Amino acid sequence: MSRRLNIKICTKQEELQDAIKVRESAFVEEYGYSKEELVLYPLDNQALQILATDYSGTPVGSCRFTPLPQDLDNLPPSSTLNPQTENSARELFKDSQGGRFWWLAVSPAGRGRGVAGGLIKYCEEYTAEMVRKHSSTAYMRIRANYKAHKMYLRFGYVVDSEKFLLAGQELIWMKKTWKV
Ligand SMILES: CC(C)(COP(=O)(O)OP(=O)(O)OC[C@H]1O[C@@H](n2cnc3c(N)ncnc32)[C@H](O)[C@@H]1OP(=O)(O)O)[C@@H](O)C(=O)NCCC(=O)NCCS
Repeated sequence: MSRRLNIKICTKQEELQDAIKVRESAFVEEYGYSKEELVLYPLDNQALQILATDYSGTPVGSCRFTPLPQDLDNLPPSSTLNPQTENSARELFKDSQGGRFWWLAVSPAGRGRGVAGGLIKYCEEYTAEMVRKHSSTAYMRIRANYKAHKMYLRFGYVVDSEKFLLAGQELIWMKKTWKV
C-alpha cells in the first residue's frame, strides 16, 4: 500500500479530526486510554499532526511529531518542543539534532500494509532534511508501547530503557541515530 499512501502534515481542521479519529480507533478502543489523554497533552495543539490516507482518500494512519532540541545524551525523556505549523517546525529544527513521534496509529482496516512504516519514514525523512543543514547525525526518540515495540526494531530502533508502567500501560524508551 505504501506507494499509494499520501502522508502529510495536517494543516486543516478536518485533517486533524481524521488524525485524531484514527488515533482513537487504536488507543481508546484497543488500549483503553481516555479520549482526553490523546489530545490534552500540554501544547498538543501546537505539535505537528501527521495523517496518512490511502488511495481512496480514506484516513488510515496518524501520529504526532515534534523536533527535539538537544543532543540525545543530554535529553530528559519528557523534553519536547511543539511547533504549530510546518514553518514553525522548520524554525525549531534549526538547532535540533532530532525528533520524536508518538501516538503512532493505524486503523484496524489499514494494518499490515506498510502504513506505520510509511509514517515512520516520513518523520525520519523530515528530521533528516532539517538536521542535515547543521549536523551530520540525526536521531529519533520514542516512548513505545511495549506490546508494539518489536515493530520499531525492524526499523532500526534500539531499546533505550527498562520497561516501565505509566497509566496502566507498559512502555519502553527507544531511539535511533543515523547519518544524514
Ligand atoms: C502497531 C501498528 C502501528 C502497526 O501498523 P501497520 O501499518 O500494520 O504496520 P506496518 O504494516 O507498517 O508494519 C511494519 C513492520 O512492522 C511489523 N509489525 C507491525 N506490527 C507489529 C507488532 N505489533 N509487533 C511486531 N511487529 C509488528 C510488520 O510485520 C512489518 O514488518 P515487515 O516489514 O518485516 O513485514 C498498528 O498495529 C497499530 O496502530 N496498533 C495499535 C496502536 C499501537 O500499538 N501503536 C504503536 C504504539 S507505540
